[in-house]
Amino acid sequence: MAAVDLSAFPRCDQTAAWAALKAQFDGSGRAFDLRPAFREDAGRFDAFSQEAPHVFADLSKNLIDRATESLLVRLARECGLEAQRDAMFDGATVNMTEQRAVMHWLLRYPKAGAPWAPQGIAGLQAELAQVHETLDAMLAYAERVRADAQITDVVNIGIGGSDLGPQMAAIALERFAAPGRRMHFVSNVDGHELDGVLAHLKAENTLFLIASKTFTTIETMTNARSARDWFAAQGGTDVARHFAALTTHVAAAREFGITTTFGFWDWVGGRYSMWSAIGLPIAIAIGAENFRALLAGAHAMDVHFATAPLEKNLPARLALVDLWYRNFHGFTSRSIAPYHASLRRVPAYLQQLEMESNGKRVDRQGQALPFATSPVLWGEPGTNGQHAYFQMLHQGTDVVPVEFIAVREAAHRLPGHHAQLLANVLAQAQALMQGKEDAGGHRHFTGNRPSTFLLLDRLDPASLGALIALQEHRVFCSGALWGINSFDQWGVELGKVLAKDITPRLATGDIAGLDGSTAGLLRRLA
Ligand code: F6P
Repeated sequence: MAAVDLSAFPRCDQTAAWAALKAQFDGSGRAFDLRPAFREDAGRFDAFSQEAPHVFADLSKNLIDRATESLLVRLARECGLEAQRDAMFDGATVNMTEQRAVMHWLLRYPKAGAPWAPQGIAGLQAELAQVHETLDAMLAYAERVRADAQITDVVNIGIGGSDLGPQMAAIALERFAAPGRRMHFVSNVDGHELDGVLAHLKAENTLFLIASKTFTTIETMTNARSARDWFAAQGGTDVARHFAALTTHVAAAREFGITTTFGFWDWVGGRYSMWSAIGLPIAIAIGAENFRALLAGAHAMDVHFATAPLEKNLPARLALVDLWYRNFHGFTSRSIAPYHASLRRVPAYLQQLEMESNGKRVDRQGQALPFATSPVLWGEPGTNGQHAYFQMLHQGTDVVPVEFIAVREAAHRLPGHHAQLLANVLAQAQALMQGKEDAGGHRHFTGNRPSTFLLLDRLDPASLGALIALQEHRVFCSGALWGINSFDQWGVELGKVLAKDITPRLATGDIAGLDGSTAGLLRRLA
């Protein structure tokens, strides 16, 4: 693997462009108004919108003008964004706190005939061969399961990246799933979830997929043990046929008693793993060919990210607007509004992708950062959100940039619905920007509230792959500009350690050494 010292790249706040952006913000930037910007610049839509593979993006309703965007691009160059990107694509140890490369993109790199080759690809041939060997085996297995009429229910047991990606994609692509097979996703250690699923299953018709990168995550192992016990109690004996493990820790899965295993590698982060064996439930749902199309869509976005100049590089442009909002305007969150019911798990998926990646308070050297990092991501599908929290987006005291995701073609046959859906997404973006004058106060909309509009022609495996890869690379760019490690997640460890200490106390009632609140609550619960 190539050795690159990422700490050699300046952090965003250490660049000349950052100082220029600060001056720009303190000058006209803070008061930038979208309404005159559109009136005065007939080319604004064209300048701030672009085609990327499978995704059209309109950034024109964001609080930037051309001068700001060119300063932002300068900032990216001064931070060495392109070199940092190339380091990832060369297999360098980008995740330095865990001493790992970051190569989820290799999972969708074609076996042959790739339209673009990273410089380091020659040194990654062994990894690429393993990727394709595992992919072929996993897809062959998925097809066997699909042909097995006895298996009517597939239960994926996993959490975080071992749940959110496969679940989000299986739901998004439900239209491509063969009828007659139910997919279930169990993540929570709360037994209500697994029990509720098991109540409707028969052992002989069920396949359990135990998905865990580490094969140690307490929630997943607890659910896996309960599933194994339930299977045995139902008279199930053929574990090899009814259980498969998706993990980097194949030996642990075998020790658990699972012989059907599909591996992946430590250079795939959990939240970047839906392209690996963790994607098996997606492949069972939509089939091998569609899974390959998902990978191809993501690869097309990889090529775009790797080769497009920053001025027309969509992941970079999105990340630069994100930085402008977070570090200059001080906006604290971004609302994700997918106007497609099948994209309903996208906000949850993006929460892990961005907040687990970039919710960091120190730079790569461990120094406390003097600026803000990950915003809060949240959202619900449109039009539902309109009748819940959009009031706050239009008239609340905080400005929340909204990311609309719309799909041009509907896949259902109900007349009238899709035009209404599209009219609503356009109207919401328009209303946020235009606002409405009203002297009375209550009916006044300030307007000038920013949004980004991502548009897919249709929701299919290729476009979903591209959309998700776009978001992955955007998160990479934000982390690279902020000078943080986007690929570790130490922040989730402390709670895990404390839960291990508390679990036996719930049985014994032992409160020794606990703080007053935890002790008081434990007394009520034990
Ligand atoms: O919550 C932390 C985390 O490590 C996530 O990063 C990961 O996706 C999830 O737990 C599940 O981990 P595993 O796949 O190892 O069970």
